[in-house]
Amino acid sequence: MKNVKSPLSKAFVIVISLILFIGMSAFLLEPASSTTGNEYLGYKAKDSAASVKAFADVYRVLMSPRCMNCHPAGEVPLQGDDSHIHQMLPKRGKDGNGIYAMKCKNCHQPSNTPGLNTPPGNPKWALPPADMKMVFEGKSARELAQQILDIKRNGHKTKEMLIEHARDTLVKAAWDMGEGRKPPPLTYSQFVKAWDTWINTGGYAPRK
Ligand code: HEC
Ligand code: HEC
Repeated sequence: MKNVKSPLSKAFVIVISLILFIGMSAFLLEPASSTTGNEYLGYKAKDSAASVKAFADVYRVLMSPRCMNCHPAGEVPLQGDDSHIHQMLPKRGKDGNGIYAMKCKNCHQPSNTPGLNTPPGNPKWALPPADMKMVFEGKSARELAQQILDIKRNGHKTKEMLIEHARDTLVKAAWDMGEGRKPPPLTYSQFVKAWDTWINTGGYAPRK
């Protein structure tokens, strides 16, 4: 037999090359696909290493009890440095302000109530709304970075609004939560710096 290339082996070669090609392009495109969010937010500056490094610090704060207690996976907020379920189980409700007699603002005043084990306060005290839960609890760094930049899941926040959000009184409140509550692992100004750096260098999501 002169011609070794039977139609079958030809097809085989084509299939193998296709697989290799798809595999290679997936590998080459990985950095782009790990940056969910930044293309349509019109991010120009790109420095994936600096961005991912800054997000590592941001993530430590997001997952600290001071932030995570209001960003739970379930319908009830969490409490304390051990993030246990909130006593008396106040539920999120549609708008995040609680339901019926269990409205957050019944107990959470515009400022902290003095004393130990008293409700911390802020004029905006609430959970994120039911149609946009903004869950932090249980999320990997990659999942959380992608969620925060996804306009469909972050409350329709643009890049500018996200930068602004780090200056929100509710975020600042985490560094003044009343007696006996540990502050987040970075200072407030370190957090803002890491947050801005993360976004301004391209808003990259870590690989894990
Ligand atoms: C008292 C509850 C409460 C605390 C404490 C709190 N948040 Fe939030 N957070 C909310 C609410 C409510 C929203 C949705 C309303 C809004 O977007 O302003 C929100 C929205 C967000 C968003 C935008 C949503 C997203 O996924 O992009 C980010 C980011 C955020 N919070 C970060 C933080 C950080 C960081 C801390 C701690 C330093 C924190 N939050 C502490 C209630 C809280
Ligand atoms: C019946 C009163 C009451 C209601 C209603 C209430 N809380 Fe609380 N909350 C408290 C008290 C008291 C504490 C402090 C508990 C402690 O430190 O032992 C607290 C603590 C918290 C904490 C913990 C803060 C931290 O960082 O450890 C969060 C978060 C919280 N409440 C969110 C909410 C949200 C959101 C709502 C509405 C959905 C709500 N609470 C409704 C009384 C209430």
